[in-house]
Amino acid sequence: EIENSLRPKSIEDYIGQDKVKEKLKIFIQAAKGRKESLDHVLLYGPPGLGKTTMANIIANEMGVSIRITSGPAIDRPGDLAAILTNLGENDVLFIDEIHRLNRSVEEILYPAMEDYALDIIIGKGPNARSIRLDLPRFTLIGATTRAGLLTSPLRDRFGVLCKLDFYDVISLKSIVMRSANILNVKIDENGALEIAKRSRGTPRIANRLLKRVRDYAQVVENGNIDQDVAKKALDLLEVDDKGLDSVDKKLILTIINKFDGGPVGLDTLAASIGEERNTLEDVYEPYLLQIGFLNRTPRGRTVTKAAYDHFGIIKENK
Ligand code: ADE
Repeated sequence: EIENSLRPKSIEDYIGQDKVKEKLKIFIQAAKGRKESLDHVLLYGPPGLGKTTMANIIANEMGVSIRITSGPAIDRPGDLAAILTNLGENDVLFIDEIHRLNRSVEEILYPAMEDYALDIIIGKGPNARSIRLDLPRFTLIGATTRAGLLTSPLRDRFGVLCKLDFYDVISLKSIVMRSANILNVKIDENGALEIAKRSRGTPRIANRLLKRVRDYAQVVENGNIDQDVAKKALDLLEVDDKGLDSVDKKLILTIINKFDGGPVGLDTLAASIGEERNTLEDVYEPYLLQIGFLNRTPRGRTVTKAAYDHFGIIKENK
């Protein structure tokens, strides 16, 4: 699939996140040198920054297979037990949204991560006993939008913690150029830069915008993307020059217009704009916090002067 073909397969092809790459390269080389499994890795950070991509790359660099699942997909302890007993030696098990595992499933993970063992209860009542099954050595890679969402016993069992940050514009521009090359789209440096600037620090968004700008270039223009074409296409998509989309805009303007700039509680805000609380917290707020448009205070969310300025609104003093 095209979506997959844009994903880098090796750490050398992965652009940005230099700190994370530097650490992982060393730990991977060390584990391989000792012919051991890599210690368990927790990848955390906002959506779209490459957590799944990095998990695939880690397995690839370790030369092992990867089994991919997610927190909500594992219903019962037996489901996880089945997955664990089918892993090969040193394989990677990737659990996306790992903070959404239910308690009984999570408890299976503790001895699995720590001792590579599965504790099974057989029988009922006075005859019940526990037997311990050995598991292959494996690497659990967990991904979550916020490390703080994990219970501490789970978080404590990861040996490697990697925080993915929003990408800078230069890295995003390289990603857009690389993706355009894979997709066979003609784009110049300024066209790529324009898309990069409006991608909210997020490769997934950069690649999505590239595809839509490509559509625009193909139908309305001559197929090539330069800055002017990118600008026109992105304006049509209602992605503004800071990369803010209609939900970001609604969020900021609601705080300004309905709550006088804040503070407003997250639940009230979510209800006002018709989005889920978690979506606001995990998807929309991180970037608005990062660019300094939004603040979290003990009494709720407030909008900064920079946000007022961006939307050309003058803050009244009452
Ligand atoms: N495509 C999506 N994310 C990427 C990254 N970090 N490096 C290269 N290509 C990408």
